[in-house]
Amino acid sequence: MKNPQRQVIIAGNWKMNKTTKEANALTEKILSGLSSDAKNQPEIVLIPPFTSLSTVSSKLDGKPVKLGAQNMDWHDDGAYTGEISPLMLLDLKVKYVLIGHSERRQFFGETNATTNLRLKAALAHGLSPILCVGELLNEREADLTDAVVGRQVGAALTDIDTSLFSKITIAYEPVWAIGTGNTCEAKEANRVCAVIRKTVAALYARFSDNGNKFDAATMPILYGGSVKANNVAEQLQQEHIDGSLVGGASLNADELLAIIKAGTERVKRNLTAVAK
Ligand code: 13P
Repeated sequence: MKNPQRQVIIAGNWKMNKTTKEANALTEKILSGLSSDAKNQPEIVLIPPFTSLSTVSSKLDGKPVKLGAQNMDWHDDGAYTGEISPLMLLDLKVKYVLIGHSERRQFFGETNATTNLRLKAALAHGLSPILCVGELLNEREADLTDAVVGRQVGAALTDIDTSLFSKITIAYEPVWAIGTGNTCEAKEANRVCAVIRKTVAALYARFSDNGNKFDAATMPILYGGSVKANNVAEQLQQEHIDGSLVGGASLNADELLAIIKAGTERVKRNLTAVAK
């Protein structure tokens, strides 16, 4: 594979943090720190909690930063107390949505099957899903990482029209690396991201009627799990890591801006490689 020009994405998942006032202040600080070098900017995505989507959305209006949501239900509307529908996200100009984050799987009973339903609904509504996959520590210790991640990707993509594969981003987030400071070693994260890419390519080859031309080499695959300004550069030098899904560090504007800068370097390297 020769340096495909994949989109570089830096996404900040704020999780259950920030009141609307705090979210506004953080958004303003991030916006004011962005470089004016629009050409080399990665795709930047802010993913606040639902309660701040509206206010952050108005701050991002006309700015080179996209809005994301942390989850969504797969129904359009109805008696589903406490849930948020794809139509409600679209209403607030949300573009990206996290699907199957490990905290949803661990603490809120989400399964591969519901991840598949959410992914289908997001795609049906023209949202850009970021599908999250990753193994638990005991699965890694039992040498099951590739099998677990392969199964998660396969289950999530079940019965999804292959013409929509090009709309999907996948984030590899090993569960043991999230919020622990134990980032996955960059080369190992790259290896698993390559496994994910191969899995997607195999699923496409199996289910495509060849009427649409998707190349898994064009799918952005992100790494997440204790990404910080001081470890992101090495991650973004890896062939198969096209960006970062950042948790804790995205709550600090200076940290996130430094991570975005590393994303800019990756964009520049991609452009140089393609120009050669
Ligand atoms: P941390 O960066 O806090 O480890 O969180 C990663 C994550 O879960 C992003 O979705």
